[in-house]
Amino acid sequence: MAHPLFFLVVCLVLAPAAAAHDLQSNEEGYISLLLSNKGVDFAKDVLINKAVSTIIPLQLPDIEKSVKIPLIGKVHMILSNITIYSVNISSSYVETGNPGLVLVASGATASLSMKWAYSYSTWLIVISDSGDASVQVKGMEVGLTVAFKEQGGTLELSLLDCGCHVQDITIKLNGGASWLYQGIVDAFQGSIGSAVENAISKKIKEEIVKLDSLLQSIPKQIPIDHVAALNATFVDSPVLSNSFIELEINGLFTATDDFAVPRNYNKGKKSSLFYNCPAKMIGISLHEDVFNTAGLVYLNAGCMHWIVDKSLNHSFLNTAAWKYIYPQLYLQYPNHDMSLNISATSSPAVKIAKNGINVTIYLDVTVNVLDDSKVIPVACISLEINASCSPQILWNKIAGTLKLKRFNMSLKWSEIGNVHMDLLQPVIFALLETVFIPYVNLHLMRGFPLPLIHGFSLQNAEILYTESRS
Ligand SMILES: *[C@@H]1O[C@H](CO)[C@@H](O)[C@H](O)[C@H]1NC(C)=O
Ligand SMILES: *[C@@H]1O[C@H](CO)[C@@H](O)[C@H](O)[C@H]1NC(C)=O
Ligand SMILES: *[C@@H]1O[C@H](CO)[C@@H](O)[C@H](O)[C@H]1NC(C)=O
Ligand SMILES: *[C@@H]1O[C@H](CO)[C@@H](O)[C@H](O)[C@H]1NC(C)=O
Ligand SMILES: *[C@@H]1O[C@H](CO)[C@@H](O)[C@H](O)[C@H]1NC(C)=O
Ligand SMILES: *[C@@H]1O[C@H](CO)[C@@H](O)[C@H](O)[C@H]1NC(C)=O
Ligand SMILES: *[C@@H]1O[C@H](CO)[C@@H](O)[C@H](O)[C@H]1NC(C)=O
Ligand SMILES: *[C@@H]1O[C@H](CO)[C@@H](O)[C@H](O)[C@H]1NC(C)=O
Repeated sequence: MAHPLFFLVVCLVLAPAAAAHDLQSNEEGYISLLLSNKGVDFAKDVLINKAVSTIIPLQLPDIEKSVKIPLIGKVHMILSNITIYSVNISSSYVETGNPGLVLVASGATASLSMKWAYSYSTWLIVISDSGDASVQVKGMEVGLTVAFKEQGGTLELSLLDCGCHVQDITIKLNGGASWLYQGIVDAFQGSIGSAVENAISKKIKEEIVKLDSLLQSIPKQIPIDHVAALNATFVDSPVLSNSFIELEINGLFTATDDFAVPRNYNKGKKSSLFYNCPAKMIGISLHEDVFNTAGLVYLNAGCMHWIVDKSLNHSFLNTAAWKYIYPQLYLQYPNHDMSLNISATSSPAVKIAKNGINVTIYLDVTVNVLDDSKVIPVACISLEINASCSPQILWNKIAGTLKLKRFNMSLKWSEIGNVHMDLLQPVIFALLETVFIPYVNLHLMRGFPLPLIHGFSLQNAEILYTESRS
């Protein structure tokens, strides 16, 4: 069966490094997920449907009994193949808080099928009969309390309490002698009731153990590509308040090979402004250092180099176009093809501001001249680029587009004479606008996955920025 896609209405909070932290926690988490009441309710319904479909059909142990029936004597009866094949839950609610999450389903009904058989002896012969029966269980109430605890970077789920209570049972026999009807009902109501109660409680206990080991097996890193992964280690136990559940993971980027995070990202405090969007189901808060570590990981992996050569067919990749900008170059290598080697000199600095994301990119552009098959570096220009980034949610990924705001530049070195920087300015501007920024955007639009459960995707995401309050 295909995985269902659940749409969550999301509110994404992008937080700067120095914003105040409203919730207490032991360690820093750079990504937090917050389920609002509405989200918790939604999750509850999903969970209950899933639980019911994993519970049924549920087989109960056989019930055997000897009953004294007036005029007949002792009758031996057996119910076998008792199966709960459908459960309907009319209402349910969830409560979060201390000591954990309480889930109660009430007014539930269940349908059971079974085989019945009886035998009794009169004088010398044994009389027996058998048939099917259907049983309706009504007014069933199921409740459980679970607690979540962070343990060694994963979440531990424990069942604190669990119970099932059956109020009313109707048994309908198909075939068999009608006189036995009342006898069966009298004799078995209680036994069937407690069999159902025990079976459901036992099944819940088993399922919680399974769910716990599933939680333990969630990988501590979410691979992004061959270079980077997201550290999905839980840093704190979930906060269960009466209006939300908050989960916190480390959330920083790491290189896939060493899976080690630079620890200099420790100083910032983070923020949770989820309260701003109560109508949304889920809030995701991303600290700006998530993006900063991403930049660092890709820089260290050597992914921030671009060679611009004649495959781009740009007129400025010929020394003729540099005649006035770089006169010595043209004199020495007239009408030679050129290439540009663009390299980031440090990781982009990402700052989340009140109404957007500011990115500063530091580049060295090495100007090469192509002489026969030789690549000769002739000059190097340093650039400092300020851009704004507009994040976007695509399914369950966060993507973005960069827009150039300003840049300044300086000549780092030149092998052959001076470069007229004022004449170079429009060329660099064109290079950034037509080559560099579109190239970066192509990569940014692929996005990186937000840490969500498989099968869920986001809808109507609203992006909020929290303000730095130092
Ligand atoms: C037991 O009951 C289930 C569900 O009603 C039925 O599919 C199955 O065939 C029964 N098994 C036996 C051995 O009668
Ligand atoms: C459960 O609900 C469905 C549809 O609402 C209904 O068809 C079915 O008979 C119900 N089953 C029980 C056991 O009440
Ligand atoms: C992942 O995050 C956890 C919790 O912050 C931290 O202890 C651990 O060192 C991180 N792992 C790596 C490989 O950086
Ligand atoms: C390069 O661009 C020029 C005009 O801008 C065009 O005439 C020429 O065919 C292009 N060459 C290649 C290889 O694309
Ligand atoms: C591009 O420049 C960087 C340093 O600025 C250098 O490490 C790299 O080897 C150069 N690449 C090419 C293909 O010239
Ligand atoms: C972001 O850029 C805008 C416009 O350039 C500027 O006004 C603002 O101060 C910057 N914010 C930060 C945090 O650098
Ligand atoms: C880029 O922004 C930073 C901080 O927002 C500022 O210090 C720097 O002067 C800006 N540079 C340019 C080229 O605008
Ligand atoms: C850009 O300007 C700032 C100050 O205005 C200066 O510190 C920085 O070195 C300049 N960057 C480049 C690449 O010229």
